[in-house]
Amino acid sequence: MAHPHRLAAVLALILLASPAAMRAAEAACAGEKFPAGRAYAACEDLPSLGAALHYTYDASKSSLSVAFVAAPAGAGGWVAWGLNPTGEGMAGTQALVALKGGSSSSAPAVKTYNITGYVALGGASTPIAFPATDLAADEGSGGKIRLYGKLQLHKGMKSVNQVWQVGSSVTGGAPDKHAFGPANLASKAKLVLAGSKAATATSPASEPAPAPVAGGPAPSSGSDSGASSSVAPTAGKNAATTAAAVSAPALAVAALVGFLAIV
Ligand SMILES: *[C@@H]1O[C@H](CO)[C@@H](O)[C@H](O)[C@H]1NC(C)=O
Repeated sequence: MAHPHRLAAVLALILLASPAAMRAAEAACAGEKFPAGRAYAACEDLPSLGAALHYTYDASKSSLSVAFVAAPAGAGGWVAWGLNPTGEGMAGTQALVALKGGSSSSAPAVKTYNITGYVALGGASTPIAFPATDLAADEGSGGKIRLYGKLQLHKGMKSVNQVWQVGSSVTGGAPDKHAFGPANLASKAKLVLAGSKAATATSPASEPAPAPVAGGPAPSSGSDSGASSSVAPTAGKNAATTAAAVSAPALAVAALVGFLAIV
């Protein structure tokens, strides 16, 4: 008999793998319409909390412009995104936080926090390791908050851990503790800067040369006996049929691999 939790996990996996869920994830990046003047070279659908990171990395200046988009866990809540140069989790994260708070009309406030551990944050920003400029936030569709900023990274950073989070409430200008559900705990990933499409100084990897096209197996094989000339066309057809029969399962395998890679 299936354990209910295990069943729930399997259902969650099926849901995650469903085409509808995949389309929804794609739509988080593709569906975003920023105000004029805000454009980004790349976008990543982050793997939890329905969040997306739009970004442009200027390798020559080591500067990273971002627009982090996520829905807060409640109408008066907050969203946060940051880089953790020293670890994988929350502790050590150099965070940008957009807080909606009480007033529904004004734009979310943006603060920076050097998150040292699981301690309550104050209402005032604290200095972070990556000088942050152009901090701003606005509200997107579906109650999402869009958090903008530009971070001066350290020279030569190739990839860095990123962490994000959402919360439901704000007290005294400070983000209240977020929930600790599976999605909250899974909200971390690597952000690859070097060699990414967004890295302006990196030239694209050269395309592999197309495989040389041989004359084909059929024509030359049947030509050494007189009788074979009448057989040759049939042999050619057989070869073509065989090739088609072989390539169908190969395609199926390639499709499956592609599907798994997407999931
Ligand atoms: C962030 O906090 C840690 C721990 O207190 C400290 O070592 C570090 O210097 C702080 N970073 C900045 C940029 O202030």
